[in-house]
Amino acid sequence: MEQFEAYLLAHLPIAPSFHPHYEAALHQMLKSGGKRFRPALLLGVVQAYNPLLLQNGYSVALAIELLHTYSLIHDDLPAMDNADLRRGVQTLHKTYDDVTAILVGDALNTYAFEVLSHAPLSDKVIVKLIRELSYNGGLNGMVLGQAIDCHFENTPLALEQVKMLHIHKTGKLIAASLKMGAIIVGRDDIAQGLYDFGINLGLLFQIQDDILDVTQDSAYAGKTTNNDEAKNSFVTLLGLENAMFEADTLAQKLILQIQSFDENLQRELSPTFEYYINRHKE
Ligand code: IPE
Ligand code: IPE
Ligand code: MG
Ligand code: MG
Ligand code: MG
Repeated sequence: MEQFEAYLLAHLPIAPSFHPHYEAALHQMLKSGGKRFRPALLLGVVQAYNPLLLQNGYSVALAIELLHTYSLIHDDLPAMDNADLRRGVQTLHKTYDDVTAILVGDALNTYAFEVLSHAPLSDKVIVKLIRELSYNGGLNGMVLGQAIDCHFENTPLALEQVKMLHIHKTGKLIAASLKMGAIIVGRDDIAQGLYDFGINLGLLFQIQDDILDVTQDSAYAGKTTNNDEAKNSFVTLLGLENAMFEADTLAQKLILQIQSFDENLQRELSPTFEYYINRHKE
């Protein structure tokens, strides 16, 4: 992943203009780290099945990270979650203003697809990848989840509805990361299975995020925490103890599924899975 990080830093969006801070604002959140969980999933699948394509996969992993980063920048806006800290630094609307954060989000969203269109892969594969990223990141995916998340603030939803919300706002992009890895290596036969697994992995990731919102302080998390009071989070809905139980139960289910993965995939992804599947216990 260090190599991917170097790749990302070498491919930051370039915007030569006389705007005083547009380019710096485009770079701020990308340069500030983040777990790079989605790139790790995609690159793990590529490494498992065709390590020769790993370099070719970097721009695809970058595209996912660009879209994810845009979603965080908009998520933090006053009109959405109103958060001051992200990835250990001030959010963009705090450093600059709302307009800058909105437009940087827009720019990273579209730049993701520009990057994807230039990936060193066949046109046919690129079209499939564009379809996955736009479907899962867009109006049927992350954006729908965010719309439900924000619309139903202070209105408690049923548990099944919250699961649907979490699967959309977080699960689908995580599922797409695994599936896109399979598409890169031409393993369309395992793409759907990985996607279905990824939906549950993403659901767990968001349940954990809800837990960490109450168990971690902002400095440790690197982002504003204790921010979910009005939200349909697993913790506000079920309480911390039951949310932990839900996370443990789902984690167990995922661990069993991982044991049925083939050897290559287990070897490449087990360290990532192991860490993330247990992170709510941190
Ligand atoms: C945060 O995502 C938003 C969610 C979908 C839970 P991450 O926890 O992956 O954030 P970064 O990329 O590490 O900053
Ligand atoms: C955000 O979920 C999911 C996104 C699509 C960005 P949260 O609002 O819980 O993410 P954090 O806690 O701010 O990172
Ligand atoms: Mg949010
Ligand atoms: Mg948020
Ligand atoms: Mg959260």
